[in-house]
Amino acid sequence: MSNRKWTFILIPVFLPFAWLLFQFTLSSLQIHQFSEQLKTVSLKDGASDTKVVLISQELDNYYWRSIEQGARNEAEQYGMRLDYIGPDRINPSEQIKLLDKAIAAKADAILVQGINDPEYRRLIDKATGLGIPVITIDTDEPDSRRLAYVGTDNEGAGKQMGVLLAKTSGERGDIGVMISNERVENQRLRLAGFRSVISRYPELRIVEIRSSDISRLQAAQQAQNMLIRYPQIRYMVGFSALDGPGILEASERSGSRSLQIFAFDDMAETLEAVRDCKIELTLVQQPVEMGAKAIKLLNDYLKGNDPQELTYTRVYEVHAGIPDNMAGDDGR
Ligand code: BGC
Repeated sequence: MSNRKWTFILIPVFLPFAWLLFQFTLSSLQIHQFSEQLKTVSLKDGASDTKVVLISQELDNYYWRSIEQGARNEAEQYGMRLDYIGPDRINPSEQIKLLDKAIAAKADAILVQGINDPEYRRLIDKATGLGIPVITIDTDEPDSRRLAYVGTDNEGAGKQMGVLLAKTSGERGDIGVMISNERVENQRLRLAGFRSVISRYPELRIVEIRSSDISRLQAAQQAQNMLIRYPQIRYMVGFSALDGPGILEASERSGSRSLQIFAFDDMAETLEAVRDCKIELTLVQQPVEMGAKAIKLLNDYLKGNDPQELTYTRVYEVHAGIPDNMAGDDGR
């Protein structure tokens, strides 16, 4: 048979087949589109209508930005909306006002730092009464009707610091302490835990406690004043994230060679100083994990599961001079 003839025979066979293929592709496209629409609808019906407000202690603090990052990533997975707000500089009355505003704006859920304040507790209880779940993060507000707490066991972390300092110092020497502020609850708890350990050793003494107000500059100034007033201080502990680098700055300025610094958290500068053996060790909290866990817990709660009241996130030690320990003590 000639080629022409074959073409005439094959065309009627091929055309219906092509038509079927076209129909099949079209309907799979439609099914795909439909399932995408369904996904959006089911997110909307569930979590995507949920507006979560996270109120920080200080808006642009690296530690709170890390909590935000953890919370935001997790919230995206459930299609929740996260609003991150906070005072420009540490200011508990502003935190109270922001909580009041979040309730007035009908947030669906609120994440806050505990500040141990009666008016704040009243607002948390008010939110809870209105059906707005409140989760405390970083610092608890245990006497309120908050749903749950996610963060460090702050008193336990203070004890951990005490044990480490006692060991490093050979249980003797004078200590200077930097806290963010005596009214900040997590600092009071860390200090209480620390004191409870240090007081077991008669030759270890806390000679001075100063406040940095979570400012690196203020930490440096206060540490310098301490070193001038008590030149015999051999150990300095910073109980909030910017204290370690501030103390280091003061110690370098004063030319002190014998001061050993004990820090908190994993700001890049702190980790670098630990690597360079300028800071003895740092206790690293898990702000990203705190944010993520708080949102997960909230999502579980909104789905009808009662959350556990306390979720303590880990605190791991990073020591100077131990090269492979930057990953943490749990081998991560
Ligand atoms: C504390 C936070 C604080 C941060 C300040 C952390 O150690 O847990 O409450 O906001 O330091 O930089």
